[in-house]
Amino acid sequence: MDKFLASLSIAILASLLPYMKEAVQPKMKEVFQAFDPKKFAKFSCENCHGKDGADRKYKMPSNDIHALPNTPEAFQAMMKKEPTWPKFTEFMSQKVEPAMGKLLDVPVFDPKNPVKGAFGCGNCHKLEAMTP
Ligand code: HEC
Ligand code: HEC
Repeated sequence: MDKFLASLSIAILASLLPYMKEAVQPKMKEVFQAFDPKKFAKFSCENCHGKDGADRKYKMPSNDIHALPNTPEAFQAMMKKEPTWPKFTEFMSQKVEPAMGKLLDVPVFDPKNPVKGAFGCGNCHKLEAMTP
């Protein structure tokens, strides 16, 4: 990615629709299918943007991706309660975030060194108050 593109904000860069079609969607399809080929056999814009993605001009977070608890305590409680969450969370932080960060050319959120504006769970998932 050249300097000019790198200097653009994530929103402007991501709003380049052709880039989403030609780069983001195919690469992320590979990433999700390597994790679970059955569940993600069909992988399109809708998997990230939701059924109403196009109507909402592809604004993130999505209405259809499962919301995440907005406190570490509630999140840990859900990790105990939902058998699939630990596996998903590992996949999200090890594979999905790094791949998206690279595609969008933005820093990925690192809990050990939190940077404002870094790409993280909340760019795709709604973060909500939840009592598991
Ligand atoms: C792996 C998940 C993923 C897939 C698949 C995906 N996108 Fe995105 N898209 C995102 C994320 C995340 C953002 C927002 C980045 C940010 O936080 O600014 C985004 C942003 C956008 C934006 C800019 C929205 C804005 O607020 O300006 C458009 C337009 C867009 N996507 C279109 C598409 C289209 C069309 C497809 C299918 C060809 C697609 N995306 C596939 C994750 C995805
Ligand atoms: C690029 C977008 C994106 C990012 C960033 C992302 N996720 Fe996800 N996540 C998804 C998609 C797509 C799914 C599968 C569809 C669904 O759950 O509705 C998913 C599913 C999950 C699930 C399973 C939910 C269920 O259905 O039970 C968990 C848990 C999860 N993500 C946690 C996280 C955590 C924690 C982070 C941050 C470390 C994160 N995700 C970052 C897109 C993303």
